[in-house]
Amino acid sequence: MPTISRRSFIQASSAAAAAYAVAGSAHAAAGDRVRHAVIGVGGQGGNHVKAFASMEHCELVAIADVDAERREQVAKLISDKATVKQYEDFRELLKDESIQSVSIATPDHWHTPVALAALKAGKHVYVEKPCCHNMKEGVLLAAAQKKTGLCVQHGTQFRSTQAAREGIQQLRDGVIGTVRMAKAINHQFRGPIGRKPDSEPPAGLNYDMWLGPAPVRPFSENRFKYNWHWHWDYGTGDIGNDGVHQIDVARWGLGVGLPKAVGASGGQLFYNDDHETPDTQVVTYEYDNCYLLYEMRLWTDYLLEGHDNGVVYYGDKGTLEIGRNGTTIKLIDKEPQKIEGGADLAANVRNFLDAVKEKDPSKLNAPISEGVLSSQLSLLGNVATRVGRKLTLDIDKVECINDDEANKLFSREYRKGYELVEV
Ligand SMILES: NC(=O)c1ccc[n+]([C@@H]2O[C@H](COP(=O)([O-])OP(=O)(O)OC[C@H]3O[C@@H](n4cnc5c(N)ncnc54)[C@H](O)[C@@H]3O)[C@@H](O)[C@H]2O)c1
Repeated sequence: MPTISRRSFIQASSAAAAAYAVAGSAHAAAGDRVRHAVIGVGGQGGNHVKAFASMEHCELVAIADVDAERREQVAKLISDKATVKQYEDFRELLKDESIQSVSIATPDHWHTPVALAALKAGKHVYVEKPCCHNMKEGVLLAAAQKKTGLCVQHGTQFRSTQAAREGIQQLRDGVIGTVRMAKAINHQFRGPIGRKPDSEPPAGLNYDMWLGPAPVRPFSENRFKYNWHWHWDYGTGDIGNDGVHQIDVARWGLGVGLPKAVGASGGQLFYNDDHETPDTQVVTYEYDNCYLLYEMRLWTDYLLEGHDNGVVYYGDKGTLEIGRNGTTIKLIDKEPQKIEGGADLAANVRNFLDAVKEKDPSKLNAPISEGVLSSQLSLLGNVATRVGRKLTLDIDKVECINDDEANKLFSREYRKGYELVEV
């Protein structure tokens, strides 16, 4: 894995770019490489930096983050031979016409705003899950991809995982017979975050831009690094965090899109802290011929049906399970069959770069048209949980029938200066 030395990472004095040295003896000739930038270089953005920089047909040329500390940390990952520019403001990065693609690993509330701006600037996009923070953003993002014809890959990397792909093929071939139900399981232990008072934002953080479209409020550590996941203004709870992976796989196997109805219930049965989002949630998605169920418990660290996080498809001849350790087929009265292999970020990144090189979105394993649907299912689970009743959908209009309160949660107010760009 290439590294970038701190020594050669020259910090820009303002939002402007600075150069640092690049990696890549194993890399292809410059003209054959996709010039790529990563926007949001926290936990997962650091993984993007490593994954993209390690691909022979990619040249990592820039990063953007509103937090100087995060830019500084990522500098440790890049080697002496690279030339990578760093930006505080991604809008400045997008002005560089030589950049062909960007990946987005900001908090959820920034995914669609950055993706739309990148598409407008003519960049191919790899966007982390969930690609949208509300239902309407998903509609706009899918439409923008269609209009521009650019490659937009979703960070649901199970779609590029060999064991999952083989499992889905077996499902399609009818190995477990007729499938009428799939269960997406998100079953793990996530400790409480406690209560923290508001405080001054850290030096080097552009907090206004971190908030972006969200309403202005004082800084809190409990709404910052990673913990933003648990606050509605920025995150989508764990159904949009880990849950969206399992929902995506379940929906993929069932071959369904938006449901006709969604029933949900959830709350905080375990946390008594600054969390806004549930620690316990059950959602039922109704289709004409099948059901998709979602179960979430964030206070258990034992397995359920063999999985912490995974999907079980129920057929009339047996079950097929796709989890973080591979695929298992269990037919009645037969020994289980196992296909080993976990979720594969590198494979999803490689597939994205291959599609970008060929300028062919049809080559993507996790195209945004699918990513939007899976993200919307997570969001629908949250909306139904928050209004406390079953939603009936007008699928063509992507709205609830006769439910103004729920429809209000299908979009948000964008703070002045941080409105969505039109593509
Ligand atoms: N595909 C996966 O398996 C996977 C795994 C982990 C995280 N993720 C996703 O990655 C995203 C980031 O998660 P994380 O855990 O890295 O969060 P994080 O809080 O560690 O990092 C987010 C980074 O984005 C930066 N940021 C915020 N606003 C920005 C802006 N306007 N422009 C540029 N940078 C900005 C923050 O300063 C921070 O460095 C989330 O959406 C999460 O769901 C995906």
